[in-house]
Amino acid sequence: MSDPLDEHDVAGDPLAVVARAAGPYLASLPDRPVHDRSMDPLLDELDGPLPERGDGAVAAVEQLVRVGTRAATHSSGPRFFHFVVGGSTPAAMAGDWAASLLDQAAGLWLTSPLAARAETVVLRWLKELFGLPPGFGGVLTPSATFAHVTGLACARHWWAAEHGVDVASQGLAGLPAMPVLSSGLVHVSTRKALQILGCGRDTVRTFARDDAGRVDLAAMDAALAEAGGRAVVVANLGEVNTGDSDPVAELADLAERHGAWLHVDGAFGLFAALSPRTAHLARGVERADSVTADGHKWLNVPYESGFSFVRDPAWLSRAFGAWGAAYLPDPDGERVNYNMLGPESSRRARALPIWATLRAYGRDGYREMVERHLDVSAHLGGLVEAAPDLELLAPVQLCIACFRYRPEGVPEERLDELNARLGEALLADGRVYAGTTTYRGMTVFRPAPVNWRTTKADVERLVDVLRELGARLAG
Ligand SMILES: Cc1ncc(COP(=O)(O)O)c(C=O)c1O
Repeated sequence: MSDPLDEHDVAGDPLAVVARAAGPYLASLPDRPVHDRSMDPLLDELDGPLPERGDGAVAAVEQLVRVGTRAATHSSGPRFFHFVVGGSTPAAMAGDWAASLLDQAAGLWLTSPLAARAETVVLRWLKELFGLPPGFGGVLTPSATFAHVTGLACARHWWAAEHGVDVASQGLAGLPAMPVLSSGLVHVSTRKALQILGCGRDTVRTFARDDAGRVDLAAMDAALAEAGGRAVVVANLGEVNTGDSDPVAELADLAERHGAWLHVDGAFGLFAALSPRTAHLARGVERADSVTADGHKWLNVPYESGFSFVRDPAWLSRAFGAWGAAYLPDPDGERVNYNMLGPESSRRARALPIWATLRAYGRDGYREMVERHLDVSAHLGGLVEAAPDLELLAPVQLCIACFRYRPEGVPEERLDELNARLGEALLADGRVYAGTTTYRGMTVFRPAPVNWRTTKADVERLVDVLRELGARLAG
């Protein structure tokens, strides 16, 4: 087999291979280990020299599916608690397949009115879901990091304009460093976005009043006064170690008083807006200048999915539009060219899985899912508190429980090493997945249940396995 044209009559056959594997694979996720290291040697099957003559699509895809369903990290199952990793709802996954099937060039209205219209619709639905004003502009991005790049590029454009410079055409040369102020909750991806934008990741100044990183408003107020208001304030809604959040409304007050740009990182925390139990945490987001969130975390759509919202839509086209290529049409009202509003040029129709899942489950379904995760996380916190060999280190906030293994008789100075070894043992064991981080100088676990399949039984399993492995190590 060589030329793909030889397969034009049987182009659906390899898709049928994937579809046949999908049902049994998805049904196995609740029971199988998250990772089975004994399958790692199968990865060698992916290797080898570049084929001179191909095997044909069915044989190639059968091999990929056979290796993949065994050797993948089954992170879309219910017990992957490392980082903040969602799964894919049934509708989102099928919507993603539809996006591949239709393979739209989703940058321009001209090449795909379908993709452009779907993006406009889902951005509107998401704004409603999160309580953002309808006038906000927006664009879908591959991730929260790219949403930061988008929102902070707008901030950079605004800030340079305050200095009389059009940064899109002239760049940053000759300008001072853009002041970026945040609390100790700021995520590394904000720094990475600033690094990408040429603003420098170390320009972020953090104002924390304690070792948990909570914001020192008075110190930030003084720094904003010193900068004459020409600064970017980053508010963090949902921090990765504990789920903690900055007081967004108070940071909005500060930014407003000084005339600064307010950027909110709500990668997963923005979903607090979905439940009356947590909506107070997101209060103030509607006053932000730019807002970041992820689809592949708590919305449970497949990778890669993020959203950037910007209060004044004009900043998006100033920062990303007007490339001046003669063959690219200008946007015209409803005919939005989304590649002029974000960092990507060619892009896929990532609105389709979002459309499918919001259509399938609606606001109520997502509220129920978020509230189930709040309950599952609180249940995990309760289990930790009840266990004599576990120590809860922060109140459970949103979807994260932060704790460490602390059996009786192990001295404080040995706990970090013990927890680090326990983290490695847990990942090698594979029945549940949760790694360690550093919190207030301690090595700790911080599992985050945000997968639509996860129930209380899954976090009970986490605690059982952790204590079983811990006892073995400590003994
Ligand atoms: C608070 C926060 N912001 C931003 C990000 C970056 O998200 P992504 O990996 O989608 O770029 C993460 C990822 O964990 C996060 O937790």
